Amino acid sequence: MSPPGSPLDLSPETFPLFLYCLMATLLVYLPFLGIVIGGSTASLVLNFFGRENREERSLRLSKELIETITVNEKLLFVAGLLPFPLIAYLCERILSGQSPFPWLSWALPFGALLSGCVLLSLYRSALRQKADLSVLRFRAGTAGDLAIVVGSFLLFLLLGTLFNPDKLPLIRSNPVFILSWKSLTGFFLFLALSFGLTGGIVLLSLVRPPTGKAEPDPDYRKYVRSVGSALALASALAVPALVVLALISLPDTGLSAEVFAAAAIVLLLALSVFLVCYLFPEDQTARPGARVSILFALMFVAVLAGDRAVVGNVFLGRVAPGKPPAAAETAVEKGRTVFQTVCRACHLFESRIVGPPLNEVVSKYQGNLEKLKSYIKDPARVNPDYPLMPQLGLKDEEIDAVARYLLTKVTGRTPREEPVAAAPPGVEKGKAVFDTACTACHRFESRVVGPPLNLVVPKYRGDVEELKSFIRNPVKVDPGYPSMPKLGLREEEIDAVAHYLMAKVKGGG
Ligand code: HEC
Ligand code: HEC
Repeated sequence: MSPPGSPLDLSPETFPLFLYCLMATLLVYLPFLGIVIGGSTASLVLNFFGRENREERSLRLSKELIETITVNEKLLFVAGLLPFPLIAYLCERILSGQSPFPWLSWALPFGALLSGCVLLSLYRSALRQKADLSVLRFRAGTAGDLAIVVGSFLLFLLLGTLFNPDKLPLIRSNPVFILSWKSLTGFFLFLALSFGLTGGIVLLSLVRPPTGKAEPDPDYRKYVRSVGSALALASALAVPALVVLALISLPDTGLSAEVFAAAAIVLLLALSVFLVCYLFPEDQTARPGARVSILFALMFVAVLAGDRAVVGNVFLGRVAPGKPPAAAETAVEKGRTVFQTVCRACHLFESRIVGPPLNEVVSKYQGNLEKLKSYIKDPARVNPDYPLMPQLGLKDEEIDAVARYLLTKVTGRTPREEPVAAAPPGVEKGKAVFDTACTACHRFESRVVGPPLNLVVPKYRGDVEELKSFIRNPVKVDPGYPSMPKLGLREEEIDAVAHYLMAKVKGGG
């Protein structure tokens, strides 16, 4: 069971299922997109320089590369597009109805990927006919490559929200906040791994020309090897730095031994890539490609395993059943989280960023929790030096929590619950009992069947028990009146109505 207000309606039992499905899908899909990006970029660059410098071997590698990575046209479309809807579905399930993304935000990357595939297949078929491309065809290839980069970048932005579920309310009110640091580092890591993987594939399948060809050209082979190793090496150098960046930018709840272990494995694998490429003997018959490719594939797995652990930690941390601590404490704790995920984008306590320093502005709300809450809920213009604070679309309990946190932090005192001009408990009920059981015979000011209560209640002078016992068991008091009958009320009704009379009648309490 998830606590109310959690974005997670999935139980902790079904949740990992969706997560594993998502990771498994990504495990196939991301490397494929990566190879398409890395391979077509490399092919385009080689083609460009090949034409500029009239270099035959560049043109030849450019053509072989695009043919290798796309395998064939059908595969490009099937593998490049089919897994996408599944990923969208799984993400929406994990965010379970809380997702702020309209269908358009999924349609956009999908459209980019689709047009990328179309343009790349145009480029591929043009290269097949003639390595010396027309400018138009070359541009189509470049546009296709860019479209796939853009599509996968958008996909990473959407995936990035999985790491920051606390940010969802903020994204809902302001889509710009989808640009999280985590999704950026994730994307660059993905690009680095992609180029590494492409390097591996170049070494694996192109160093030796396809069997059946007569005389392999040793010069060309050497050239291909140097291109492949350069790609793999550059990537092996970039990956460790990006892994460390990604770790630093994770939310605290996401970190765990599992995540650190995955990061350590990635670093070791990158080191191995470096060694394999660097120490690889100049032996023409041996190929480093298989080893390099496997190492990069393992890096992908390790990065995804780390990500799975992060998302799992972040979400299960929210649904973990724990004994609820004292209410005030939880609110302040929760307020800190809301502050860090939502407000800190624009506010610090000491200094001005987008919004004013909170130490200055919050103190005027001291002792007025409700007013602070209503400002956060519906900000109005206060100071013309600042832009208007946007409405953040937070839930009421999040606003309550962050307001308490701010007041506690700035004024040093926990705001107390102030009773709303509170009638003491029971009085409400006492009035109800009075209205139904007593008004037939009693008024406060005047005589009806019984005496005016303003006259008789003060006799009891704050002795509620005495009054209760009279109501419970009336005795004859005044010969000018008939006897009051026994009313058969329940004990708590007697208690309530007695207290009501005491409070109502001056001098009664
Ligand atoms: C997108 C930027 C942005 C975010 C996010 C943001 N604020 Fe603000 N906030 C502002 C700006 C700008 C002002 C100054 C508005 C003005 O003076 O009219 C402001 C003013 C305030 C004030 C002072 C109001 C006053 O009476 O002077 C408080 C309190 C405040 N914000 C609280 C919060 C809290 C709490 C959050 C998080 C739940 C938050 N803000 C998130 C931009 C932001
Ligand atoms: C059927 C009419 C009737 C109802 C109903 C009735 N009373 Fe009375 N009440 C009387 C009469 C008659 C007296 C005067 C009795 C006497 O002086 O002996 C009286 C007297 C009292 C007195 C004064 C006792 C004293 O010490 O002088 C109190 C107090 C009182 N009623 C409270 C209540 C409350 C409270 C209720 C409703 C829960 C209630 N009565 C319902 C008829 C009624």
